[in-house]
Amino acid sequence: MDLKKEIKKLLKEKNAVLLAHNYQMDEIQEIADFTGDSLGLSIEASKVQQETIVFAGVHFMAETAYMLSPQKTVLLPEIDAGCPMADMVTAEDLREFKKKYPGVPVVCYVNSSAEVKAESDICCTSANAVNVVKSIDSDRVIFVPDRNLGHYVSRFVDKEIILWNGFCPIHERVTRRDIEELKKEHPDAVVVLHPECPPDTIELADHVCSTSGVYSYCKESKAKKFIIGTESGVGYRLRKENPDKEFYFAYSPFKCKNMKKTTLKKIYDALVENKYKITVEEEIRKKAVVSIERMLQIPRNY
Ligand code: 13P
Ligand code: SF4
Repeated sequence: MDLKKEIKKLLKEKNAVLLAHNYQMDEIQEIADFTGDSLGLSIEASKVQQETIVFAGVHFMAETAYMLSPQKTVLLPEIDAGCPMADMVTAEDLREFKKKYPGVPVVCYVNSSAEVKAESDICCTSANAVNVVKSIDSDRVIFVPDRNLGHYVSRFVDKEIILWNGFCPIHERVTRRDIEELKKEHPDAVVVLHPECPPDTIELADHVCSTSGVYSYCKESKAKKFIIGTESGVGYRLRKENPDKEFYFAYSPFKCKNMKKTTLKKIYDALVENKYKITVEEEIRKKAVVSIERMLQIPRNY
């Protein structure tokens, strides 16, 4: 069976759209109706016309899509595709933490559960975090769960950022040494890192941006070689759009195993069996969507 063809057919028959994150496998990106970073996918999810959204990504992304479009069916083909960083803070943890800082607004990275979003004042993604924090009328801000993104933002704002101690296990692995070694091999390469990388590694970056920011930066740059500090799924579009340029990933294999759990077969099964439906309790959704919608009013940094 030609799975790609069958999926395309089913998407049309079922009035469904396939949204895929930039870390998804090449063959999934190839047939997706839209690929993007977390911010791009949220914006797309809020305005799609189809009745069903099939989300090739991880749980918090599908949950965000549902919260923005609760009248639609949102399917996550692999129910175990989670995000370990999102699991590093619970709503209960956050409620306790907030008691220590009464009145301090909470910014939560979109890599978090619906319950945590409901306890927060505004969400952000890697693409707009600096602008989101700047938009807050307070000189102190609680930032959950990514300590690295929070630290990165602190470089650009004149506010105290109270960090939660969460991180992405796969970006945390990008060391200064990895970058220095690659720079030795390719001295003319430009270093492009995701802000989930640790702060001492970020110091070596020529450019820091979201996953979609990597595409625009590398396309516009006159450089021919790039050291990339994010998941290797971005390689699909980077190579397609820049056949004359070379891309070296910070370490190998730079893979998010949760993002790679979704396969063409699972997307096919999801469409046939209408699974796995992602929903959020209405009480939580109503609160969380306020944080998400506030974020959508803020422009991208990149
Ligand atoms: P982006 O929003 O930059 O795509 O990042 C999402 C993510 O999970 C990065 O690890
Ligand atoms: Fe979560 Fe990291 Fe995977 Fe992104 S790359 S989904 S932050 S574990």
